[in-house]
Amino acid sequence: KRPLRIAPSILSADFSRLGEEVKAVVDDGADWVHLDVMDGHFVPNITFGPPIISKLRRHTDAVFDCHLMIAPADPFLEDFAKAGCDRITVHEEAGPHLHRSLQTIRNLGKKSGVALNPATPVSMIEHVIDDVDLILIMTVNPGFGGQAFIPATLEKIRQANALIGDRPIELQVDGGIAPDTVGAVTEAGANVLVAGSAIFGKAEGGRYSAAIEALRAA
Ligand code: DX5
Ligand code: ZN
Repeated sequence: KRPLRIAPSILSADFSRLGEEVKAVVDDGADWVHLDVMDGHFVPNITFGPPIISKLRRHTDAVFDCHLMIAPADPFLEDFAKAGCDRITVHEEAGPHLHRSLQTIRNLGKKSGVALNPATPVSMIEHVIDDVDLILIMTVNPGFGGQAFIPATLEKIRQANALIGDRPIELQVDGGIAPDTVGAVTEAGANVLVAGSAIFGKAEGGRYSAAIEALRAA
């Protein structure tokens, strides 16, 4: 059984105080820090890239879990590795050479991940299953925080869980994860929960322990 991990998405953090926000969420019980990189092309929003990640890297030793919503991704993989990402996840839909992207990430010494948009079937990654350390099932359409969980993705989480079998692969979900959806996604097999608004939108006196505990307990 894979351990439950909470990965707060800093997309909903105060970008003007990002260093402090990352420190706070790690001190308050986050397992990984989820970094949503968007290019205004693969998704209709723009966030940040390697320069900001490398500055953040000085503030914490926590695992940096980088979710690349960029196309193409391959030309930038080395930059993200050098910036201090420990795990790098590319979208299946972002390029024609997924196998190459995954191998590049591993050759850079990082953990490889593949993300699937809600409309992309799990069968798309059958033949690269031994090249991934993480599968990310998107439970909303990527691009924005605060969207509603898409129930049809539950079946995909089950399918990904079956595909993983005994392999040491993390099964991550991202989008609309909150105390009311945690039960269904963990039941389906997810063990890494990304949450933006359910953590950064629920500060109590600037602290996040209660919000993180609420997800663990749900
Ligand atoms: C969506 C991002 C998510 C997002 C989740 O494109 O990949 O990580 O921040 O936000 P919530 O938890 O608010 O749905
Ligand atoms: Zn994400």
